[in-house]
Amino acid sequence: MQRFHWTAGHTVFEAEIDAEHREMFRLYEELSSAVETGANAEVVGDAIRRLIAEVEGHCAHEERLMRAAGYSAYAWHKREHDGARRRLPALAGRPRELLQYLAAWFQNHTSVADRMMAAALRNAGRAQRAPQRARRRAPLDATPA
Ligand SMILES: [Fe+2]
Ligand SMILES: [Fe+2]
Repeated sequence: MQRFHWTAGHTVFEAEIDAEHREMFRLYEELSSAVETGANAEVVGDAIRRLIAEVEGHCAHEERLMRAAGYSAYAWHKREHDGARRRLPALAGRPRELLQYLAAWFQNHTSVADRMMAAALRNAGRAQRAPQRARRRAPLDATPA
């Protein structure tokens, strides 16, 4: 079974998003060990529900951030999220396939789409802070020589 292992290579350099990705990874590991140790259907089902809810909450959070920043690739990024939103519940009865799908999706999605988004969010944050910095400097600049 394909596994996803958290490495520094998964970071997107946005603390909040990285923390949510790590939480997804933790829930993935929880489900993975439940499946591998032959846990009963109730335990596996609970782990699947928690994992799907985490992915949904995380995608919705990223989408709010992208909308707030006026991110130009929002529609494309949301389509990638929507792919997972459709596929994960469809695989809820097949935990091994779900794990395999999520491992591949997470790897592809974070390494391209989430990194692009995080860079855009950082730039948008800088652009918003720039006028404040300029205003803070203004009285100094205006001081007569
Ligand atoms: Fe994303
Ligand atoms: Fe993400």
